[in-house]
Amino acid sequence: MLGGNEVKAPRGTQDLLPGVSEKWQYVEEKLKEISSNYHYKEIRTPIFEHTELFQRGVGDTTDIVQKEMYTFLDKGDRSITLRPEGTASVVRSFVEHKLFGLPNQPTKLFYIGPMFRYERPQQGRMRQFVQFGVEALGSADPAIDAEVISLAMHAYQSLGLRSLKLVLNSLGDQESRESHRQALVDHFTPVKDELCDDCQQRLEKNPLRVLDCKKDREHPKMQDAPSILSYLNEVSRSYFDKVKAYLNAMGIDYEVDPNLVRGLDYYNHTAFEIMSDAEGFGAITTLSGGGRYNGLVQDLGGPETPGIGFAMSIERLLMALEAENVALPIDERLDCYVVSLGEEASLKAAAIVNDLRQAGIQADKDYQGKKFKGQFKTADRLAAKYVLVLGDDELANEQISVKNMETGDQESVALANLTEHLQALL
Ligand code: HAM
Repeated sequence: MLGGNEVKAPRGTQDLLPGVSEKWQYVEEKLKEISSNYHYKEIRTPIFEHTELFQRGVGDTTDIVQKEMYTFLDKGDRSITLRPEGTASVVRSFVEHKLFGLPNQPTKLFYIGPMFRYERPQQGRMRQFVQFGVEALGSADPAIDAEVISLAMHAYQSLGLRSLKLVLNSLGDQESRESHRQALVDHFTPVKDELCDDCQQRLEKNPLRVLDCKKDREHPKMQDAPSILSYLNEVSRSYFDKVKAYLNAMGIDYEVDPNLVRGLDYYNHTAFEIMSDAEGFGAITTLSGGGRYNGLVQDLGGPETPGIGFAMSIERLLMALEAENVALPIDERLDCYVVSLGEEASLKAAAIVNDLRQAGIQADKDYQGKKFKGQFKTADRLAAKYVLVLGDDELANEQISVKNMETGDQESVALANLTEHLQALL
C-alpha cells in the first residue's frame, strides 16, 4: 500500500492493461490491414509540434485551438503543443517532404496514434485518446471522397458493427461558403444578444460554428437557420451530387444533414460523420468524422493541393463494439506450460521453454517455486493448450509427457523430438 501518497493516472487518461490491450492490438492490426487493402501507407509524425501549426491548420476560432490544447514553452522558449488531431501534422509533413512531387498521386496515408485535448472527460471523451485516420492528398475527384468514406464504414463493419449511420453534408466551396456566411450573419444578428458568449464571437469570426453550438441548440432561430445546401453554387452542387452518386454506386447508405458542420475550420465540400445507433452507446454518438480540406495544404505553405480524410478514436470504436456485444476473435490461450519439480528438472524446463520460444512456440514455466499441483493450477488459469510435465522418470529417460488439456490425452515424447512434435500439434 502506498497510502495517501499514491500517484494516479491524470484525469482523462487510461492505462490499457493485459486483457484489454489484446483488443487494441487486434483492432489496430485490422485497421492496418484495411488501410493496406485500400492502398493507404502508414505515416508517423511527432506527437508534439509547433503551436503555430494548429493555430494555422485547425483554425484559431475552433474550440480545439481556443480551449483544448496542451500547450507549453519548452526549455528553449518555443511554444509547443501536443497534437490535438492528425490532419495538420500530416499536411505539414506532406509539404515539408514535398510528397506532392512524387510521381504517384494522390498521396494516400494512414496513421494511428495518441492525440491530446483538454476536454471535460466523460464516457467516450478522453484527454488522451488514440485516433486512426487517413488522408488522401492530391485528388479532387469525388470518387476519392467516396473511397475514404467507404474505408471508414468498412473498418467498422469488418470488426462486426451493424448499428451505423453515415451522415453527409456539403460545406461548399469558398464562394458558396461566403454567401452562406452572409445569410447566417443576417439571420442571427437581430437576436445576437440572446446567444451565448461563444456564439456572439462565432457570429463575427465563423458563423457556421453557431449551428454546432450545444448551448443555443434550442433557440428558435436555430430551427429555420439558412441551410448551406441552399447556398451551394453550381460547382459545389455538382461536386456533392457526384460524391452521392459514387456512394450510391458502392451501395453505401447515407443521410444528408445540412446542419452537419464539423468542429474544425479547414473543411469545404464533403463533410461526414459516422454515428452509432446502438442502444446503450451513450450520450456521444459520433464514432468518426472527416471531410474535404482543399485549402489546407496551401495554408500550410504548400502548393495548391486538394485533400480529404477522416479520423476515428479507438476508444469510441471499442465502446461501440461493447454496446453491440461484439466479441473479438482473440485467442488468449497459451500454447504450452512446462511443469517441473526439483532443481535439475527446473534447469531442463528453462532450456525447454527457451528452445520452444525460439522455434516460435509460446511457452512459459513456473517462477514462484510452486509445487506440482500449484503449477498445474497456473497452467489451467492460463488456459494452456498443452501442459508438458517433466517428472523424475521423464528426466531419467530424456522424455517429457505432453498433455492435451482439451481432450485430456497424454503421451510421452522424446525431448529430442519435442519441438517438431508440438509444431505439428499446434
Ligand atoms: P474530429 O471530429 O475532431 O476530427 O475527431 C475525429 C474523431 O476523433 C471523433 O469522431 C472521435 O471518434 C475522436 N475523438 C475526438 N475527440 C475525442 C476525445 N476527446 N476522446 C475520444 N475520442 C475523440 C478530426 O480530428 C479530424 N482531424 C478528422 C479528419 C481527418 N478530417 C480530415 N481528415
